[in-house]
Amino acid sequence: MQITPASRIYVAGHRGLVGSAVVRTLQQRGYTHLVLRTHNELDLTDQSDVRRFFEAERPDAVIMAAARVGGIHANNSRPAWFIRDNLLIQGNVIDAAHRSGVGKFVFLGSSCVYPKLSPQPIKEDYLLTGPLEPTNEWYAIAKIAGLKMCQAYRREFGFNAISLMPTNLYGPGDNFDLQNSHVLPALIRRFHEAKVRGDESVTVWGTGTPRREFLHVDDLADAVLYLLHSYDAEPIVNIGWGQDVTIRELAELVLSAIGYSGRLIFDSTKPDGTPRKLLDVTRQTNLGWKPRITLKDGIEQTYAWFKEHSDDARL
Ligand SMILES: NC(=O)c1ccc[n+]([C@@H]2O[C@H](COP(=O)([O-])OP(=O)(O)OC[C@H]3O[C@@H](n4cnc5c(N)ncnc54)[C@H](OP(=O)(O)O)[C@@H]3O)[C@@H](O)[C@H]2O)c1
Repeated sequence: MQITPASRIYVAGHRGLVGSAVVRTLQQRGYTHLVLRTHNELDLTDQSDVRRFFEAERPDAVIMAAARVGGIHANNSRPAWFIRDNLLIQGNVIDAAHRSGVGKFVFLGSSCVYPKLSPQPIKEDYLLTGPLEPTNEWYAIAKIAGLKMCQAYRREFGFNAISLMPTNLYGPGDNFDLQNSHVLPALIRRFHEAKVRGDESVTVWGTGTPRREFLHVDDLADAVLYLLHSYDAEPIVNIGWGQDVTIRELAELVLSAIGYSGRLIFDSTKPDGTPRKLLDVTRQTNLGWKPRITLKDGIEQTYAWFKEHSDDARL
């Protein structure tokens, strides 16, 4: 099925970091038939509600950006919540989308599906070659089940589902709740608050030496639309820069974007986590897509958004 700006596109999770960026990008490009439901309007863990919704709306394409998402603390403290909700949400949506004749389905996984000790950079082929990072294995197992379900439905029913594995994302609409957030939004919030209070220093956990990769969510949305139109195959595709920075470099970029002159202290008694997590983006590059928003520009733009949305950001 050809997807055009007149197609009916359901963006699941359209209020989240990824979903809101996908909606923004679709709207900017003239897509006028978006199908959207908030979590309150449609709980995707409820199978009969999800089936009824798909039978009534019959979207042409689905971007699957609804998930139970969180940082290490949330994953560690709510394992049942993470595995249950994600298995139910994606199982219900993939199955109902297939039953109602959806022509294209884009599933979003994550770089955390790969084994903890993967060689770097991480190729798609490393999936299921070793043990997962124990702190988020509940989430990762659910995501692996989701991408495998897409592959199984493609094989058995010819369901046109593709699965993308983005690296760490950031941008407008991110979660800045310190209990639940990822490293970049957490640094933005903590450094901003230190600046407002006039603190002399800020402390970052660990040695600052682990390396991480970050992709602006508007770049991911661009990749989603690009592959929605141009990629129809079973293999999963990593989405990222294929380049990383140390946590110290990241913290310095955040300090400079915020304009905070306090001292940066690294608390090396706290755990560092995996030394490096970088995606191999050869497949993405061969498919003809690359990101555009540099980390410096992206952090400045995200900080501007955070300040403008102090009353409605997820804090
Ligand atoms: N953020 C990252 O760094 C990152 C990196 C790689 C991949 N991804 C992938 O991108 C996808 C989206 O992540 P995100 O960062 O955009 O997460 P997010 O900001 O937390 O958004 C997830 C959305 O899903 C909705 N949702 C959760 N449970 C639901 C339910 N039972 N019924 C209906 N809606 C529900 C949430 O609504 P409520 O808030 O109202 O519950 C929220 O709008 C995930 O599959 C994730 O694996 C994210």
